[in-house]
Amino acid sequence: MRILVLGSGAREHAIVTALLREKAGHEIIAAPGNAGIAADVEVIALDPANPAVVTEFALENDIELVVIGPEAPLVAGVADELRQHGIAAFGPGRAAAALEGSKTFAKRIMEEAGVPTGRAERAGSLAEAIAAIDEYGAPYVVKADGLAAGKGVLVTSDRDAAIAHAEFWLGQGSVLVEEFLAGQEVSLFLLSDGHTVLPLSPAQDYKRLGDDDDGPNTGGMGAYSPLPWLPEGFVDEVIETIALPTIRQLASEQTPFIGLLYCGLILTESGTRVIEFNARFGDPETQVVLPRLITPLSTLLFAAASGGLGGLPRPEFSDDVAVTVVLASEGYPESPITGRVITGVDTALVIHGVSVDHAATAVSKGRLVATGGRVLSVVATGSDFGEARSRAYRALEAIDLEGGQYRTDIALRVAE
Ligand code: AMP
Ligand code: GLY
Repeated sequence: MRILVLGSGAREHAIVTALLREKAGHEIIAAPGNAGIAADVEVIALDPANPAVVTEFALENDIELVVIGPEAPLVAGVADELRQHGIAAFGPGRAAAALEGSKTFAKRIMEEAGVPTGRAERAGSLAEAIAAIDEYGAPYVVKADGLAAGKGVLVTSDRDAAIAHAEFWLGQGSVLVEEFLAGQEVSLFLLSDGHTVLPLSPAQDYKRLGDDDDGPNTGGMGAYSPLPWLPEGFVDEVIETIALPTIRQLASEQTPFIGLLYCGLILTESGTRVIEFNARFGDPETQVVLPRLITPLSTLLFAAASGGLGGLPRPEFSDDVAVTVVLASEGYPESPITGRVITGVDTALVIHGVSVDHAATAVSKGRLVATGGRVLSVVATGSDFGEARSRAYRALEAIDLEGGQYRTDIALRVAE
């Protein structure tokens, strides 16, 4: 199949790697990609969030499937434009992508569909935000309503900081003040063709910058899959009480959700609750879910994009476990220092079970350099979490990036 993958992160590198692993002779093009993706497949410099540009390229190059990685092209309507031109696109149209792009929209859909989530209040003014902050009490949860690239959420016990966060994001739209939910978090990805869903294997993301969940929220510093501590029947419960009601609600509003429904869940004492939906594969969870996938990824993505998921069995996963640790630039997440040289990736790749998904990398004057905050996602598989962790951390020791930072406790809780 001729497949176009949009995006430039470690998630897209993991998608490309999974497609290549099928050994099905796919012709894959990535746009715009990064240095790691460029080493594996053809890359092309086009704006992935420009619907007309992407569609023209897909038509001219006989692309049979477009896989949309990041949220920006979804919200920009790239999937709508592709489908209007008869091209299979894995990713929701603009209206359904609001499930991620607008937290207010997501809350309304959940309410209509009877999906369990925390209480929340939308505030359009500082006075409303302060009233909601005091109504819910500490710990405070304040979120930007729109897309904020992982920076929009503040969870804090400091009332002044909560108010300051609300004030900042009110400058760019409304904010949501939410009830604090306590419990383990789970990321569950479901493929959807608009009517039915198929689950992938659950994963857990580490959102905070530092060990022991210290420091600011980030885009994600590491992940592991599967989650051995999940109660039996968990995935079926999420399908029945969360995913299908949500998909059906969107379909009933003539905005079918075609693509990846990312359920960000929290297991509270009173049951599973949705913290957020995303409309795309999660990063870094994808880097641990896809290496374990046995079913060909292209079959699943094409079936979702063309309305044929109903006839497929549930995707199969290997019994091996996977761990990923993200290597980030000095200064991440506030102000990452870029341009620094990365060495040792080849040495790391010699370690059995290790792969390296590139996130923000480029080749400059023949050397690999960091071009952003999250630079590499070092992935290791193994027969248990102890083995996968030790491989991943040996790989990180082999890689050198001045000022580079990574967590040392990814998957530690399941390795002991
Ligand atoms: P989000 O971008 O909505 O996923 O939020 C980022 C992170 O903030 C989540 O993964 C949680 O760790 C935390 N968080 C968000 N909402 C809540 C909540 N209502 N209660 C507790 N923690 C939350
Ligand atoms: N890992 C969090 C996200 O992709 O939004």
